[in-house]
Amino acid sequence: MSKLKIGLVFGGKSPEHEVSIISARNIYNAIDKSKFDVTLIGIAQNGQWFLEQEENLQDVACVIGKNKIQLATVFGNKTNKIIRLDNQAFLTDLDALFPITHGPNGEDGTLQGVFLQLDIPFVGPSVLGSAVAMDKDFTKRILRDAGIGHAKGITFYKHEIDNISFDATAKELGTTLFIKPCNMGSSVGVSRATNETEFKNAIEEAFKFDNKVLVEQAVIGRELECAVLGNEFIEASTVGEIVMQKGFYDFENKYKNDNAIITIPANNLTENQLTKIKETARKAYHALALEGMSRVDVFLTDNDDVIVNEPNTLPGFTSISMYPKLWENSGLKYADLIEKLIHLAIQRHQRDTNLQRVRIG
Ligand SMILES: Nc1ncnc2c1ncn2[C@@H]1O[C@H](COP(=O)(O)OP(=O)(O)O)[C@@H](O)[C@H]1O
Ligand SMILES: [Mg+2]
Repeated sequence: MSKLKIGLVFGGKSPEHEVSIISARNIYNAIDKSKFDVTLIGIAQNGQWFLEQEENLQDVACVIGKNKIQLATVFGNKTNKIIRLDNQAFLTDLDALFPITHGPNGEDGTLQGVFLQLDIPFVGPSVLGSAVAMDKDFTKRILRDAGIGHAKGITFYKHEIDNISFDATAKELGTTLFIKPCNMGSSVGVSRATNETEFKNAIEEAFKFDNKVLVEQAVIGRELECAVLGNEFIEASTVGEIVMQKGFYDFENKYKNDNAIITIPANNLTENQLTKIKETARKAYHALALEGMSRVDVFLTDNDDVIVNEPNTLPGFTSISMYPKLWENSGLKYADLIEKLIHLAIQRHQRDTNLQRVRIG
């Protein structure tokens, strides 16, 4: 069988640009090269697309676009969809794209829309699921509608900033509050506040990253994560846990120190708790129109309530990332996971290609 041609898409116009490069390096190194030929497509911080060489990806100081081989997309073509601007040569036609871009512009449906326009199968959720799951306000509305546990919250818009009061918010949600930009990731712009000054600073910080900010009641419980994959048939992995030595899982604790201990599988979960978490993760995935893959992050309270915190539609694939590790622990090896995700992308594309797009007769 001839090899499938995969475009690995990484970087992106996002605060999680560097994390994406590390994820892509891991995927590139793990993918079964006897089955897949990989073309590297890097998206620079300014949004330009470049054809990248392996050498640059492997470099810890990787800067996308160093070789200046810029790419452009051509819509509507059956073949010849991506062209090099340096010599006007089209890239070899790709069988599927594997975007491993995180946060806004990578995980929020905008890039997925480009892939749909190019008519190339792609890994991970499509436009609707990506957009809804990226927006913490919309995620909450869907979870609420589907009867899935979620933290109570209030959404504020930037033009309302002068009317946002700690006292009024605390009256609704309690005095320990989490403040977050609705569309972000990696805990960028997320704060915990317990008084008016902290609250005011947190609101200002969150509004730097989005015009819409979510304030949530603090959930007291264990922080757990479940890896989910599938299109129509949804599978959930074992459950992992983030145990914080101090504070919450903010940017520093995620990437800069050893405060967060990741345990796979989570210790001391009863069979019932495990089943409930996996079922909730699958239910949330389905309700949010997710396909391909997502990591569903939840809290488990002392009463055994499962509260969905958020889905991550293109979760990290670094060597310490939870998503691939959860699958590995569930018996699906890193390389097999990559292969499965690619086949899910192709299956979905075939399914959707069979839909009638024009009215006949
Ligand atoms: N309502 C909440 N109650 C308790 N902790 C929370 C709450 N919301 C967020 N956190 C903490 O903040 C972290 C980051 O928030 P999250 O909503 O996951 O943002 P991001 O999308 O940036 O990862 C979580 O991993 C958790 O540790
Ligand atoms: Mg999170």
